Amino acid sequence: MKSIENPDEFWGDVAKDFFWKTKHTGQFLDYNFDVTKGEIFVKCMEGASTNISYNLLDRNVHERKLGDKVAFYWEGNEPGDELTVTYRELLQRVCQFANVLKSQGVKKGDRVSIYMPMVVELVVAMLACARIGAVHSIVFAGFSAESLCERIMDSQCSLLITAGQFHLRKINLPRRSPQEHWEGAASFSKLLLQPKCIMLKHLSKEVPWNPEVDLCWHALVRGASDECEPEWCGSEDPLFILYTSGSTGKPKVGILHTVSGYMLYTAATFKLVFDYQLDDVYWCTADIGWITGHSYITYGPLANGATSVLFEGLPTYPDVSRMWEIVDKYHVTKFYTAPTAIRLLMKYGSEPVQKYKRESLKVLGTVGEPINPEAWQWYYNVVGERRCPIVDTFWQTETGGHVLTPLPAATPMKPGSATFPFFGVVPAILNESGEELEGPSEGYLVFKQPWPGVMRTVYGNHQRFETTYFKKFPGYYVTGDGCRRDKDGYYWITGRIDDMLNVSGHLLSTAEVESALVEHEAVAEAAVVGRPHPVKGESLYCFVTLADGVTYNRTLEAELKKQVREKIGAIATPDYIQNAPALPKTRSGKIMRRVLRKIACDERDLGDISTLADSSVVEQLFQNRCCTA
Ligand code: PRX
Repeated sequence: MKSIENPDEFWGDVAKDFFWKTKHTGQFLDYNFDVTKGEIFVKCMEGASTNISYNLLDRNVHERKLGDKVAFYWEGNEPGDELTVTYRELLQRVCQFANVLKSQGVKKGDRVSIYMPMVVELVVAMLACARIGAVHSIVFAGFSAESLCERIMDSQCSLLITAGQFHLRKINLPRRSPQEHWEGAASFSKLLLQPKCIMLKHLSKEVPWNPEVDLCWHALVRGASDECEPEWCGSEDPLFILYTSGSTGKPKVGILHTVSGYMLYTAATFKLVFDYQLDDVYWCTADIGWITGHSYITYGPLANGATSVLFEGLPTYPDVSRMWEIVDKYHVTKFYTAPTAIRLLMKYGSEPVQKYKRESLKVLGTVGEPINPEAWQWYYNVVGERRCPIVDTFWQTETGGHVLTPLPAATPMKPGSATFPFFGVVPAILNESGEELEGPSEGYLVFKQPWPGVMRTVYGNHQRFETTYFKKFPGYYVTGDGCRRDKDGYYWITGRIDDMLNVSGHLLSTAEVESALVEHEAVAEAAVVGRPHPVKGESLYCFVTLADGVTYNRTLEAELKKQVREKIGAIATPDYIQNAPALPKTRSGKIMRRVLRKIACDERDLGDISTLADSSVVEQLFQNRCCTA
């Protein structure tokens, strides 16, 4: 209750562990969540100044004497590729790279784009930005060059940090040279006045090189000092931008998080949700390119002085026991992964798991989508051998950290439920007219007041922030998820209630896939819906209406899949494409996605379709539906 009724006291206690160059002056949290009363804002610890890299590194090395403690055990894709980095070494490397950034003219407030594989240098690059007050914008390395360009332009970055070659599958994928990214971006935008790219040599011997743009990571670092005074930042100074899918308008939304609230929130959630102890070895299998990696590989664990595994590879390479081999190798105690990974490994049965002991495991976590009870049971019974509590953490890029989650051993679990709110979080369930529902109920999941780690705005578009999250129900932050509360007060996420799909724990908007499809000259119109998938959760089922005179065939289908892959990235590759001579529309011309979802799943019970302009379209689509991907 203290966290809700007296946030100053609750969070004040958390803040005591951190270093503040100057103390905050006003209330701990100041906010307006009601659009009818003026602009939406959240401010935490106004007046205070600090530096997050100082708190994650210098404080742990100097005050807490953790300099020799391992910060990361890096494990490459190839078994045997490994590296250990202590807190002291990480501090030195961050300082060196911060000096490199300064030497390239990067200043406080500048945006820096990072497009890198899961290597220690990725953490170094992000913390070096934080050290000098620059704002990092990390783009998941699986996204296409075009997606990278779009994000570079939106955040007007002055520098790109990338690597020559990445491991994204079992094979090495040669990347397009970064200068192509720059040229693409620069030709669209005059905002990139100083196109510069710092290239890390990784895996490959030869890196495509453009001397006018490219700078060598290794050469720059060699000459740089390993001491760098941190830039003291205001609490509400921006820390990073991370793009997520939006359901309307321009598909990408640059979520902005700020320094102090995010630091406290990721630190506190990490500590309590994983019951962190100093001798833990923690492993989060996410990629740092997603919010899970930002909050629970970099910021939360390092703020606590934790030792983590940083894994670059695939869970199925060289075989499907790899995860458990790593657990035994490093004696992992706390393990955090996604339902899609659990379902993938579950397909191979328990034998590959039981080949390894997993005796060190104490807590298992999950994130990214609702976990189906079957996967939950397998995780609990087989992986954790019924001794490890499962923390099903519900949260979003926007929330910065866990908002609904059990606390291990303290919260009685129910498989598939994210259970209860974290300290300081006040959820509610609303009906369509915006009324709060009491007791057991189902409706829109919203939050009534902020917590320190909630997003502050959409970068460069505060109006979009207000419209997306606060307009529908004034006075509430709207998550976009449906939710049920049972008779014991447990919360159960039922999935997105907007036009978003969750593919392998990654959100995609139907609009962005549709626009990638219609950019192909053969396509006149496209409508994309989700179809349940046993491993990915949801897969993409795309209906396309072709331009006059174009005939549908396998070659075109392959081209369309390639088009989406190239425009967005491999995760958005459609599973099914169906030729749709016409789409089911209302008399006012609106596509009835509800009907398309039924067709994709071959469910004949269509409900009320009286508003449909031409019902013969539906039967035709049922007859031609795709049965195999
Ligand atoms: O629909 C919810 C689902 O993932 C969405 C947030 O996606 P993103 O911003 O990419 O962040 C993912 C990692 C935090 C949510 O709106 N989601 C996330 N975790 C859960 C979940 N759905 C159910 N249970 C969860 N534990």
